[in-house]
Amino acid sequence: MISPLNEVAMGEKKSDIVLKNCKLVNVYSREVMPQMQIAILKDRIAYVGKDASHTIGKNTAVIDLEEKFVTPGFADSHIHIDQYILPSELAKHSLLCGTTTLFSDPIDIVSVCGYKGFREFVKMTENLPIRVFHMVPGGLPVDRKFSHARTISKTEQKKAFELENVLGMGEVFSWTKVTTRDPSTIQNLRYMLENDGIINGHTAGASDKKLNAYIASGIFSCHEPIDYDQVMERLRLGMWVMMREGSIRRDLDKIIPNVLSQKTYFDRLMFCTDGVTPKDLLEFGMIDHCIKKSVSMGMELIDAITIASRNCFEYYRMGKDLGGIAPGKLADILVFDDINKLKPDKVFVGGRLVVAHGRLVFKNPKPTIPKWITKTVRTGRKFAENDFIVKSGGSSVQALVIKLDTEIITRKDQEELHVKDGNVTASLDKDVWKVAAIDRTYGTRKQCVAFLKTFGGNIGAFGCTQSFHENDLMIIGSNEKDMAFVANELVKTQGGMVAAKDGKTICKFEMPVAGLVSKLPLEEAVTRYNEIDEKIAETGCKFKQPHLIPLFLPFLALPEVRILYTGVIDVKNRTYLKVLNG
Ligand SMILES: [Fe+2]
Repeated sequence: MISPLNEVAMGEKKSDIVLKNCKLVNVYSREVMPQMQIAILKDRIAYVGKDASHTIGKNTAVIDLEEKFVTPGFADSHIHIDQYILPSELAKHSLLCGTTTLFSDPIDIVSVCGYKGFREFVKMTENLPIRVFHMVPGGLPVDRKFSHARTISKTEQKKAFELENVLGMGEVFSWTKVTTRDPSTIQNLRYMLENDGIINGHTAGASDKKLNAYIASGIFSCHEPIDYDQVMERLRLGMWVMMREGSIRRDLDKIIPNVLSQKTYFDRLMFCTDGVTPKDLLEFGMIDHCIKKSVSMGMELIDAITIASRNCFEYYRMGKDLGGIAPGKLADILVFDDINKLKPDKVFVGGRLVVAHGRLVFKNPKPTIPKWITKTVRTGRKFAENDFIVKSGGSSVQALVIKLDTEIITRKDQEELHVKDGNVTASLDKDVWKVAAIDRTYGTRKQCVAFLKTFGGNIGAFGCTQSFHENDLMIIGSNEKDMAFVANELVKTQGGMVAAKDGKTICKFEMPVAGLVSKLPLEEAVTRYNEIDEKIAETGCKFKQPHLIPLFLPFLALPEVRILYTGVIDVKNRTYLKVLNG
């Protein structure tokens, strides 16, 4: 390709497309250049300058952009593409927001389906009109003592890394596995480093010698800093920071104002979403939202665009091909009618027009979903009331309760609960609910039933097959009958979220792809998804996003108490807790 590009630049060969009258946002020189012209041959840029007329032949499409802003495509440096909607749906809406490249970490599909799931999701992103690069999930198991999620073996890791568009290892969650030199973790890191793989970090809570040890092990990025001090601590030690603004957390508010006031070098800063819910994707967008938010806090637009494009590709060692508009680069180009709105009018990916007049102009290949991936909710039985009974003698008992401080953060607490016919019951008066974690991956029939406090919603039961990153079947309920009903519904639909009362479904969001992803178009997914939160909130739930509760209840990387199908876990003391006292 070098010679043809060289020939076009010299005018000895003609280009395919010329974009003229561009207001070019140059992320290399930090200038906005008026009246620029860009000549494209096949998928790459051959010429950028004031006059591309020498590259124009009779077959060249010349597009007059009438002094519109032209920028490189944006990149999401860390996103989970195995949540809520199919990659093909995510691709469409990313492109409409100007995000032309996704750096994906498909951790949950691996936790349910192992390597086979990883392979399938990589396959689902092939032939999409967007660039998707993958990291082999490096966060599993979250905790070697308690986790039961499927993982990727050493041989599979090698196979995964050899696939096209797989760049290295995704967020290495548990930094203690690195600082204690867990042999398997160190072996994985060594393999990636010896083979020139990139390793993404996850250093929440690590500092000083532990952070040093982590970085010294070859992990040079992190998307966990939640404020400026944490950003600086990592930049000072040579790390790259992916600033997160997505559905899990929104961190820009606490980072950008200080980056600006302290005049911090921003060449090692990137943006990431770390995953977006259907609702947020439709409402906020993706990396375009990160840019807008940074600009609203005082950042120069050109700097925010540089963070969203060039910096990310340089971290991923792709700077020679992507990240800016210059000769030799792949032609991933956005054209804006109104740069302040940041909604692209045109999007080119590799010289191909995929968005025009703000609308998609390509036929998204129909996703192929193999049958096996829609048959993953294996509980080995039909559920009955008895499955949710907590046996005890007497008329009351002291029970451990998992108290919700937020949808995500929990604390240990105690409550005296009533025993009826040998079964410890939930108590609406005390705002104590039953919560069950059930194995839905291996069909072992293993489960744990415990108690949850401050859920607040007067529903019969609410269940979900998606839970970070163990993916147990989680059911919260006020009575055993509805809990069994919801569990059976989720087996029937092979995954998703269901809320029910008195044996009737109140709302349902089906996610049959590995119990994690819906087959619905984004707009419909948003309706279903919103309905879950709205309907549960209507019943008195204290939290705005009740769907997050079962999602995070098994997440072992957060305090203070978690529940898995193997039992209730004290995260700090790393022990199982008894559900009933005495
Ligand atoms: Fe993540």
